[in-house]
Amino acid sequence: MRQDWFDHARFGMFVHFGLYSAAARHEWVQNRERLTDAEYRTYFDHFDPDLFDARAIARRAKETGMGYVVLTTKHHDGFCLWDSALTDFTSATAVSRDLVREFVDAMRGEGLKVGLYHSLIDWHHPDFTIDWNHPRRDDPDAAALNAGRDMSRYRDHLHGQIRELLTGYGDIDYLFFDFTYPEEKQGGLGKGPQDWDAEALLAMCRELQPGMLVNDRLGIPADFVTPEQYQPTSPLMRDGRPVVWEACQTLNGSWGYDRDNTDQKSAQLLVQMLVDSVSMDGNMLLNIGPDGRGAVVPRDAATLSEIGEWMRLHRGSVVGAGHAPFTPPREGVYTQRGDRLYLHLLAWPLGFVHLPGLAGKVSYARLLSDGSWLRTSVSDPDQRASHMTPAGEAEGTLTVHLPVRRPDVVLPVIELVLTGE
Ligand code: GLC
Repeated sequence: MRQDWFDHARFGMFVHFGLYSAAARHEWVQNRERLTDAEYRTYFDHFDPDLFDARAIARRAKETGMGYVVLTTKHHDGFCLWDSALTDFTSATAVSRDLVREFVDAMRGEGLKVGLYHSLIDWHHPDFTIDWNHPRRDDPDAAALNAGRDMSRYRDHLHGQIRELLTGYGDIDYLFFDFTYPEEKQGGLGKGPQDWDAEALLAMCRELQPGMLVNDRLGIPADFVTPEQYQPTSPLMRDGRPVVWEACQTLNGSWGYDRDNTDQKSAQLLVQMLVDSVSMDGNMLLNIGPDGRGAVVPRDAATLSEIGEWMRLHRGSVVGAGHAPFTPPREGVYTQRGDRLYLHLLAWPLGFVHLPGLAGKVSYARLLSDGSWLRTSVSDPDQRASHMTPAGEAEGTLTVHLPVRRPDVVLPVIELVLTGE
């Protein structure tokens, strides 16, 4: 029951915002450039999110057809976007703003579900031990520094901050922990579920927010799995049973604002990824990285607007939709919602598209973009192929007749009304 809204929404927005947004060169900048606390502190001292507008983000998410939004409360750098009593490394200290409060109020104001991201990792906390993922990992005195660090104190801090977030901001619908890395590397240990006391942390989540979805990155099973920056090729299963899953994706490969990045994905690719996920009963969480002042970056706004225009006409093939038990034609991807079957045409064929196994099962066909009726026919497998009429399709194939010109939309969709036969 916890996940009914999640399965229905299918499409959410991820928001990565923090000190790294001002560094403007990926959210792992502190790690990649081995920045010391003192070097990284400059982004705290000059943090100025004057254009961070949670209500504008909420409206943008809604216009893009998204049903939930997830904000980074704390990323790996340890900077907190809420007024935490457990550290002064927060947006409240820096600029007297509780950005999590602004966020949850804005999302609820637009009727969107509220998601929080929280990093288990904390490169700022004095008791978080230096491991192969830590910015100080190459320091000659890393081992000596670790001697004075006590992960049990960090665990208390981690659990305390989660308790703050789950008791101070009303109902939270979704919590994205990030991430567990138990494997050894470069001769050093990573951090596994025991480092977080994951079982106790999950139990606290259940106690404080019983209706909240929790992801799998505590390193123990929870409510949904989180493939990242790749597209699964079939519904995800565990022990032979389908699992709830959500693919988190970026617009350009970076979660945090990356000013000079040139890998912006097209709206067409992103919509294809979205419907592909839905076709396999999955969700897509699409990320934006607001810039150093907290503004939605114009190139991201433009991409979201294109997606939003497509969703305005085609949301029925995504929201409340899921896997369809039919073999799609080579040109496309099916999703299904009730008695509606949606064919997303990744390639526009000449004149016809042939749908295996659908003869006698469809009462009406139309282009979803303009609602225009489409003629259908069932070819007779024994019919002698005339030089102008399609023939030779397998028995039970339904042929849909198409205009020569591809509709001028990001991804054309044919809506088929199923008879239920
Ligand atoms: C990876 C990245 C992290 C990002 C997360 C989003 O864990 O390390 O920076 O926030 O993916 O899922």
